[in-house]
Amino acid sequence: MADFLSAYSIQNWLESCPQGYLERTEYGHAPGEVEPDSILENPLLREDAIRGTVQLVVGERCALAASSGLINSAPDEASKRFLATQTLDEARHVEIFTQRLFDLGVKKSELEDVIKTLASPHLVAFAGVLLEKVDKKDFVAGVVGQNIVLEGLAFSVFEMQHAANKEINPKFAHTLAGTIADERRHVGFGENRIGSLLKDEPNKKPAIEKMQKEMSYHILATFADAFKRGQKAFEEGRRVRTSSGPIEWQGADIAHLEPAEMEQLLANTVLKEFRIRLGRLGLEYQTPTAP
Ligand SMILES: [Fe+2]
Ligand SMILES: [Fe+2]
Repeated sequence: MADFLSAYSIQNWLESCPQGYLERTEYGHAPGEVEPDSILENPLLREDAIRGTVQLVVGERCALAASSGLINSAPDEASKRFLATQTLDEARHVEIFTQRLFDLGVKKSELEDVIKTLASPHLVAFAGVLLEKVDKKDFVAGVVGQNIVLEGLAFSVFEMQHAANKEINPKFAHTLAGTIADERRHVGFGENRIGSLLKDEPNKKPAIEKMQKEMSYHILATFADAFKRGQKAFEEGRRVRTSSGPIEWQGADIAHLEPAEMEQLLANTVLKEFRIRLGRLGLEYQTPTAP
């Protein structure tokens, strides 16, 4: 418990995050960095960037509601304090991705309408499964749903986007890098804290496994939807790319994969991570039905 207390303390959070990798950043990136003209001046790519960023805002709003909602059902003081730091991290993620929407030309007065129109219904359903557990004050299920499933998903999606944007959009890649570092801390908390709680309450396992299966189904449906809608922008992005070098991610060259292959790689990566992380907690991964 002593290690747990210092690793997830507010003091450690201050030193590593606001006074560490976020120092001298502005909305998560270096001051003065802007979205590239290749996106801002290309209607197809700008629209696609807005749609993609809306999904990030929806996911992060869910994480904000979940992490703040779990504070009062946490069984110990150290977890409450950690979740308070996570609440601020998630609020920051909501803010920086919302700021990206403004940077991409969304008007402040249109923000909620744009989010409502472009949010994937499958992602909204995914959030609903998690927030129901949080509302019922089911701490163990809530943390598995949030810190293992939602954040495991976010972690892989952000890493893929980071790889894809490093060369063409350093501003967005920098925004993602700080977020990835935050998500790594959140996933670590989930694994460390939930293992011992599940040992005390093994009867909770079947309901948690059922939740994971449902959430995984909605993830696959979200991906299918996103890759189908993004097909044209995907081709356009390839067309305007100036370099032809490989972009490595998960052992593949994602600069030269077809959209269907990308979708498969992303889905496999996310589900493989779940299987490993849930296994460490003594939970059995449930394969979702294909959407
Ligand atoms: Fe987040
Ligand atoms: Fe997070």
